[in-house]
Amino acid sequence: MSNPTSYSIPRAPADAPAVPSHVPPELVLDSRMGNGGVPNNLPDPYTPCDILRSPDMPRIHYYPWPSSGNQVGAWVVTHYDDIRRVYEDNDLFSSRGVAQFQILAGETFPSIPLGIDPPDHAKYRKFLNPWFTPVAMKKLEPRIRATISEMIDSFAKNGEVDVSYDFGRIFPVKVFLDLMGLPFAMFDQFLAWEWDILHEPAVATKAAAVSGILAYLRGFIAEKQAAPDKTLGSYIANGELDGRPLTTDEVIGMTWFLWLGGLDTVASSVSQMFRRMGMDPALQQRLRANPAIIPTAVDEFLRVQPLVNSGRRLKRDVEWHGVNMKAGDWVTVYNTSGNFDEKQFPNPHVFDPERPHNRHYTLSGGIHLCLGAHLAKRELRVLLDEWFKRIPQPFRIRDGADTTVMPGLLSIRNLPIVWDMP
Ligand code: HEM
Repeated sequence: MSNPTSYSIPRAPADAPAVPSHVPPELVLDSRMGNGGVPNNLPDPYTPCDILRSPDMPRIHYYPWPSSGNQVGAWVVTHYDDIRRVYEDNDLFSSRGVAQFQILAGETFPSIPLGIDPPDHAKYRKFLNPWFTPVAMKKLEPRIRATISEMIDSFAKNGEVDVSYDFGRIFPVKVFLDLMGLPFAMFDQFLAWEWDILHEPAVATKAAAVSGILAYLRGFIAEKQAAPDKTLGSYIANGELDGRPLTTDEVIGMTWFLWLGGLDTVASSVSQMFRRMGMDPALQQRLRANPAIIPTAVDEFLRVQPLVNSGRRLKRDVEWHGVNMKAGDWVTVYNTSGNFDEKQFPNPHVFDPERPHNRHYTLSGGIHLCLGAHLAKRELRVLLDEWFKRIPQPFRIRDGADTTVMPGLLSIRNLPIVWDMP
């Protein structure tokens, strides 16, 4: 889809996967554009999702394709209030099995902490939290700043950079690998595995990638157990909970999920941020002139670029908005829609870098609110801060560059930007 002028939601095509018998056929819709799967070239690539909240749309519909690591389709909620209910009502919605890609490789350990429900979830958060608090981030900030500054300095005098491939793709992964104690030499292989897991449709390809990364992480854990150090990877590998060592499943469950959730989520955010700023010189100028608004601007960038939707599973039968759902059914929340719900966010498509009460769902909500939220925000703030200091000239996207974006993870591969040298 390139610059479409009108949108509609078709029924799911005949070759879409079959749905359970209790799902009314008229509710089975093709909303793939809300699930990160349909590229477009709009300045605000999530606008096609607005139709999902139009009055003539069913409040809840059914998406027949597998998503969020599950093997079947899911009910979809698109309004902010409904999304909040899914995130916050832990008696009705479970996250067991969410992002459980490891099943594809025949593995049974859960993703921790995302795949754990209360009360156990809190134990794991408590174990991991010390590494992700604002205080911990303050300590990490000099290293984040050094990594970012060094990279910007390496190209600042060139007047151009592929900000996606040669910068955004790399620095947050560097920060993450450093935190975990994972080697940068594995960078390309890690990204290749992640691409296969998230984006390759063939199950065998996904499964091979999962097997590859898990074999690697198990070797990494063994190394950290043999020679502990001060990294998060070592803390987990040698961790204790309730006065006992973590089990093998707990250690791999946490290491794997941090790899999956932390590796390049920030990288995808950077590309979309620069795409927007490259298309909007006035926004750039406002940020450059007012560094004090960078923290709220970062939240606004995050709001308008919800990279992932989340899934949950119903613990019991329920009727919601007139739809009968059954225990075990999956429910997907479309943050891609909820973050633009005009009832929650006045003028949702206006980018307001000083937007008050910006409670978006890009980093999820409720008890599973992203563990890396402070890290992600800190990285993005430091990035803007250092960028404008080191490259004070306005930048623009190079003429003729392809600005097509996949409104989801790993969304833009190349984004060449240029600025005039004094
Ligand atoms: C802009 C960057 C990021 C985005 C958009 C993002 C998004 C998310 C979302 C949507 C969830 C919740 C999923 C759900 O509720 O089903 C989540 C959870 C999580 N994220 Fe992030 N994330 C980002 C960065 C990071 C980083 C840098 C790390 C680690 C270094 C991280 C680690 C985690 C963990 C461990 C969880 C599970 C939390 C729990 O279940 O309690 N994330 N993230």
